[in-house]
Amino acid sequence: MSSRLPDITTQYEWRDCYSVGNAIIDQQHKKMLLLCAESEKCLESAGPEGCEKFHDLLHEMAVCAREHFAKEEELLLAHHYPMLAEHAEEHEQFQIVLTDFLFAALEGKQDRLGVFRFLSEWWIHHILVSDLDCKPYLVES
Ligand SMILES: [Fe+2]
Ligand SMILES: [Fe+2]
Repeated sequence: MSSRLPDITTQYEWRDCYSVGNAIIDQQHKKMLLLCAESEKCLESAGPEGCEKFHDLLHEMAVCAREHFAKEEELLLAHHYPMLAEHAEEHEQFQIVLTDFLFAALEGKQDRLGVFRFLSEWWIHHILVSDLDCKPYLVES
C-alpha cells in the first residue's frame, strides 16, 4: 500500500506539529487519523468479516466526525473566528461525501480504496491547513 500512496500513508501518523494547542481537539484529530489508518487496513481484509469491519469504520467515522465538528465549531464561535461559516462549510461537505459512501456501502457497493483516499486526504489537508489556520481561536488560554 505504501508504495502506491506514499504521500498519504506517511502523513496520517500524528506529529506534534499537527497540534492546534487544544488537548480535546488534538485528541479528536488523533482519533480521526487513527480511523484513516484503519481504513487502510480495510483494504486488505476480505470476506464477510472485512465487509463488517468496513461498515463499522464508516459508522465510527461518521459519529466521531459529527462530535468533533460540533466541538470545534463551538470553540470557534466562542472565540469569534471570522471565517467560521467557511470552515463549517468544509465540515458540512465532508459529511455529505461520507454519507454518500455510507449509502453506497449499505447497497453493497464498498469503494474501500475511494474511502481510504478520501478520508486520508481530507483529514490531512483539513488538520494541516484549515484547522491550523484557526489555531489562535482554538488554543487553550
Ligand atoms: Fe475543522
Ligand atoms: Fe478539526
